[in-house]
Amino acid sequence: MGAILRVRARIPALRSLMFPRTLVRNRAWRYRVVDMKLRYVLPCAVAMLGFSMADAQSVSTSFLPHLEKRGKATQLIVDGRPFLILAGELTNSASSSMEYMEPYWPKLAAANMNTVLAAVTWELVEPEPGRFDFALVDGAIREARRNHLHLIFLWFGSWKNGESTYTPLWVKKNRKQYPLFLTESGQSITYLSVFKEANWNADAKAFAALLRHIREVDGEAHTVIMMQVENEVGCPGATRDQAPEAKAAFNASVPKQLMDYMAKNKENLVSEFRQYWEAAGGKTSGTWGEVFGNQPMTNEIFMAWHYARYVDKVAQAGKAEYPLPMFVNVDLGQAIGEYSSGGALPIQLNVWQQGAPGIDIIAPDIYLPNFAEWCARYDRSGNPLWIPETRGDAANAFYAIANHAAMGISPFGIERQADAATPLAQAYGLLAQAAPLILEAQAKGAIKAVTLNAQHTEETVQLGNYTLAFSMARTRQPASAPPAGGNAQTSSYAIVISTGPDDYVILGSGLQATFNGPGPSAAAVATLEEGTYVEGRWVPGRRLNGDDIMLNYDAPNKAIRNESGQGFRLAGGAPKAIHLQVYGY
Ligand code: DGJ
Repeated sequence: MGAILRVRARIPALRSLMFPRTLVRNRAWRYRVVDMKLRYVLPCAVAMLGFSMADAQSVSTSFLPHLEKRGKATQLIVDGRPFLILAGELTNSASSSMEYMEPYWPKLAAANMNTVLAAVTWELVEPEPGRFDFALVDGAIREARRNHLHLIFLWFGSWKNGESTYTPLWVKKNRKQYPLFLTESGQSITYLSVFKEANWNADAKAFAALLRHIREVDGEAHTVIMMQVENEVGCPGATRDQAPEAKAAFNASVPKQLMDYMAKNKENLVSEFRQYWEAAGGKTSGTWGEVFGNQPMTNEIFMAWHYARYVDKVAQAGKAEYPLPMFVNVDLGQAIGEYSSGGALPIQLNVWQQGAPGIDIIAPDIYLPNFAEWCARYDRSGNPLWIPETRGDAANAFYAIANHAAMGISPFGIERQADAATPLAQAYGLLAQAAPLILEAQAKGAIKAVTLNAQHTEETVQLGNYTLAFSMARTRQPASAPPAGGNAQTSSYAIVISTGPDDYVILGSGLQATFNGPGPSAAAVATLEEGTYVEGRWVPGRRLNGDDIMLNYDAPNKAIRNESGQGFRLAGGAPKAIHLQVYGY
């Protein structure tokens, strides 16, 4: 029904009743007028067209890109449907030149991306106070549309990796009006101070103007689907601002909002944060030092709160103009000094969530090797997983999407690797085909990942009625004699989706599996098809049987171990899809 109404929304008269753009252009109060229209006028129009009130409600909430809890997953909804973000992030300066970007747009689309992350910088958007230039924003939107891509804009405002290098020159040069961070030795560094209202006001005004413009040019097409607010905030190389206002804030009480939240939600706080607080005595009031102890981490918690409050003011100003989903990205590290103090590190999840309610997602940039651990640390406290920066690793994409219901993933420096032949592009191709099934399975919790490599060569997955035992695929085919050793590829990965109790779809590369169950029973192949998804619909290819389902011809062993020896093998290289039905005997 949503789709039908969207078609109706293209009829100009009705559209002006449903989505009165002129009424939402400037200030937050104008939303009340929109709200009245949506509440009173839209239902009448809808009733006249024979639609129910329930339908009208669904239109008012599903119109804009937004986040929605669907079963076990929180998903991004674009044009009324869950959307799997298969993205890449451009290098920092790429989007500052349309000419530079011109050859890359079609390459990005050909590499099976559906979304590109591109910087929009304060210095280029507001070259003089109050004078805005959105030519680059418009150019990016135009090219994205031409190439059937969505955009996520990265607001390089007050900070980019802690530094204030993207502020306009009129901000940089006026340090009296827009003060900087002070170190312990009393030196300024080129980080805008978090503690100055003039700083966040100026940033918030520019961000609001950007969102207003995006609403005007894209409020119906939804090419732009999310916004990143600032970039990897935090103060690199220092733990706490020493400006007089910062010192006064540090010696004041921990804000009641944070203290009350901690006291009420003690059991649900992220474990490392709770432990840190309890180790300092678990007090429910006092200064930062009294509540959290006189340790370096206390400085980080204090800075995290104040960065969050600042970023929230910027995000809320943007949302008042156009409420797209918004996130912050995080520079990760294991030890103090390896990352920027005040950023939304895992231990700061609760602090950031309370300090910045206008931020919908805290999103890790995962370059460190322990990818799975970082995913788990951000898939907590109601925070949906979205990875805006990482390496172009197909196995990681499969892992995050299947084991953490990630909304998507976005390798950095993507224009330099925009090639349809890369493993990532091949993986994105298959993920794009199967996206409706994957998103449904995320909501049902009926999806799991398998990642194998030289250190981890076997894995079992329990899903539906059966247990699937995966190992790395051998290169010798057919498996008429069980290969002794064989050549295994270095990285193998799969997504297993349970489409019914005895029914699976498996997407993967370089692995094989046998299965058992239910319980202690043995199991065999009922049907096994390879195939593809066309617009989300399964189109079967070869029906596999004989040598192609017999992974183990070793009859005596099979009998002893109560195994059929039947299974499937997915060759290395571009991942493929199979549809498997199993029966127990
Ligand atoms: C993380 C930053 O967020 C990006 O903008 C970029 O600078 C990358 N690091 C480079 O690896």
